Amino acid sequence: MKLFDVYPLFNIEPIKAQGSWLWDKEGKKYLDLYGGHAVISIGHNHPHFVESLKSQLDKISFYSNSIKNELQEKLAEKLGQVSGYPQHQLFLCNSGAEANENAMKLASFVNGRKKIIAFKKAFHGRTSGAVAATDNQKIVAPFNAGHAIEFLPLNDERAFTQAINSEVAAVIIEGIQGVGGIHIPTNSFLQFLSKKCKEVGALLILDEVQSGYGRTGKFFAHQFANIEADIITIAKGMGNGFPVGGVLIHPSIKPWAGMLGTTFGGNYLACAAALSVLEVLENENLMQHAAELGQYWMNELKNFSSILEIRGEGLMIGFDLPDSLATLRQDLLVKHSIFTGEAKPNTVRLLPSLAMSKGEADILLEALSIELKQAATV
Ligand SMILES: Cc1ncc(COP(=O)(O)O)c(C=O)c1O
Repeated sequence: MKLFDVYPLFNIEPIKAQGSWLWDKEGKKYLDLYGGHAVISIGHNHPHFVESLKSQLDKISFYSNSIKNELQEKLAEKLGQVSGYPQHQLFLCNSGAEANENAMKLASFVNGRKKIIAFKKAFHGRTSGAVAATDNQKIVAPFNAGHAIEFLPLNDERAFTQAINSEVAAVIIEGIQGVGGIHIPTNSFLQFLSKKCKEVGALLILDEVQSGYGRTGKFFAHQFANIEADIITIAKGMGNGFPVGGVLIHPSIKPWAGMLGTTFGGNYLACAAALSVLEVLENENLMQHAAELGQYWMNELKNFSSILEIRGEGLMIGFDLPDSLATLRQDLLVKHSIFTGEAKPNTVRLLPSLAMSKGEADILLEALSIELKQAATV
């Protein structure tokens, strides 16, 4: 059987990883500033993460959600404490799209409405409702297109005022837009959304799948705005590579048996992985570290005059390049063995492990000074 060929691939095959580094079959070493798409939060193969999974495997790895699972309760308790949302309830699932699908479904159950407001350049995943709320027509199949979604410009209070009304079930917004190219909702815009949603009984869903879990220096990016979201979705950094997602749900939303469900969500291994991530985040003070290193990178990146714009918070950074430097990401990989991310047309995205060292951050700066200097002299 052949693989269904949907991914444009780099001709690189990592077989080993540690911290911020990957190694291929020939032993060549790569600096990972992409984290497998913002997934590696505490570092590849962190010893505590590896040990937690191994010791859980020796005990029990799976049973269905029809039995009591103490690890789920431990995870919910710890997540409530570390995230600053101790009163919210946790529903565990397997991916970011599934978390968003459940979040929108939940909002619709709560107020009986259908319509969702999303934002231009948003990415929320590839399941039916999540992809319909994603601003990329190319990946929306006719089957997914029947949802009632309105896309509004980010940070436009006037457009939002015109669109929000008592027909809206929920407003879904990324803490920081990732796939769209690192675009940040302003604090005042988030505060405005929160206020307007309350006025009309719509739920505010914060998609923190990419921007959450300490990446920005706060546990959730929206916490810079000092707002409380009704529903928050998480995945990526949550399991440091083990597939796990979750939905944080306001205490006023009451569950009923069968309202949401999943076979694999919240399994023992996923909980062990997620718990170990929270423990490392806390024990190694990684949120503060991410804030400090992010600030250092932002300050240093500003010294490169050929970079057009730099945006970001903590270790979620994007910078725009002119067309003449469109190959920079490829050059960083081929000439300097550095993985970075991208957003169309010419944005480089930096999404490293939150445990990256300053020395590793400097490797990128050195590579950039070589490449950008060379480009200036051509
Ligand atoms: C903000 C955001 N939401 C949702 C998703 C979808 O997550 P998953 O690929 O785990 O379904 C992504 C993935 O890139 C994302 O960046």
